[in-house]
Amino acid sequence: MNKKIKAHNNLISCKGRNLKGVIVAPPDKSISHRSLLFASLSIGTSSINNLLNSDDVFRMVKVLKNLGVKIKENKEGVWFVSGVGLNGYDDPKSDLDCGNSGTLARILLGALSGSNISVAIKGDKSLNKRPMDRVIIPLKNMGINFSNSTNLPLTINGQNEITPIKYEIPVSSAQVKTAVLLAGLNARGTTQIIEPQTSRNHTENLLKFFGADISYKDSPIGKNKVSIKGGKILRAQEVDIPGDISSAAFAIVAASIIPNSNIKIKNVGVNYYRIGILTALKKMGVNLKLINKRINEYDEPVSDIEVNYSKLKPINLKASYSAIMIDEYPILAVAAAATNGRSRFCGLSELRYKESNRFNAIIDGLNLCGISVKNEGDDILIEGNRNNIEGGIKIDCDYDHRVAMSFLVLGAISKKPIEVVGCDSIITSYPNFCDHMNSLGLKIKSKFSK
Ligand code: S3P
Repeated sequence: MNKKIKAHNNLISCKGRNLKGVIVAPPDKSISHRSLLFASLSIGTSSINNLLNSDDVFRMVKVLKNLGVKIKENKEGVWFVSGVGLNGYDDPKSDLDCGNSGTLARILLGALSGSNISVAIKGDKSLNKRPMDRVIIPLKNMGINFSNSTNLPLTINGQNEITPIKYEIPVSSAQVKTAVLLAGLNARGTTQIIEPQTSRNHTENLLKFFGADISYKDSPIGKNKVSIKGGKILRAQEVDIPGDISSAAFAIVAASIIPNSNIKIKNVGVNYYRIGILTALKKMGVNLKLINKRINEYDEPVSDIEVNYSKLKPINLKASYSAIMIDEYPILAVAAAATNGRSRFCGLSELRYKESNRFNAIIDGLNLCGISVKNEGDDILIEGNRNNIEGGIKIDCDYDHRVAMSFLVLGAISKKPIEVVGCDSIITSYPNFCDHMNSLGLKIKSKFSK
């Protein structure tokens, strides 16, 4: 794993042809992280099929190996994880390096809470700036001590006596929910987490699959309450990972905005709490169909998606969308730029705390490309101007993979090419992005290739 990943720093995207063809969506990053982590906390050897081969996931593998978990990949690409049980991690030989991955750092803190060891955790420049207090506050309430209450690097002192809590998070977050539930696995009693709205529920589905005593509702309306009873042993499972809708979104939007396109993306996870992007695009007039829909062994819906070019309309997106499509705003902003008229995306304060400040990246990047964009408080307003996207500029994505991929898609419909600096970040989630997009008809090349 990872040896095969090619990283390009500067990429240039220019007008290609209409998109045609079929790709298989890269494996889901959220489910890849969770499968490895939950398998490590189980008794027995789990097998994981279709694990994402990306830098973020590779960091999870390294971190777990450093904690004494045995992990191996066979020739067919299936991964085997020999679990150490709920509090069986070894003292690591060095600091745990989470690289660029906020998901890894935050959910790891939950998993380490119940281990009676002291562990130092660090990240890269971007991750060290991201807020960790959202996870640290509830974990402190459960009795865990930290050397730093706001950011990485920090040391966590796990312990056997964990206090169960009832915790209402102010902003829906799958990472915070996961951290609290993982700490709750070791608590003496029932831990409950309440979110204003349900965020992606892969943790709930997978923890149930691994045998946790967990209860949660499956309704998108109203607050989400998830409860977990501590003390139940997790048992190894065979996990098959579906494709990532957040990665598939780039091809979906590209095909929606490039005339005469028609593509199919196979094996995409279409969990309700992830597909806000599809609902939004449908409202904008995109002609897309879910075909061959099925439900996998741990209740995740999976489907192939067919997308045809459509003339897009602007959209007014309520703040409630942010829980179900938080990672897709940069690429949806590209779709909004490809309309004629004003779109408004409401309530995006959380975008300021991602791999980069995506709130500003969307506004500054689109303005540079000749699209008029501004904010009103936490809302972003985009004046779509389909035939007048100038391009001809260089954008520094601030080592943010989703910002990089979004502006590379925009380059396909701008008058002049768009160059993106910092594209080596794409290896964190979608290492074969360029191969996939170019095979469909886009023209993305490394600055130094002919
Ligand atoms: C993720 C949750 C989201 C998302 C991130 C992945 C996860 O973050 O932005 O890319 O796998 O749990 P928040 O929990 O901060 O919303």
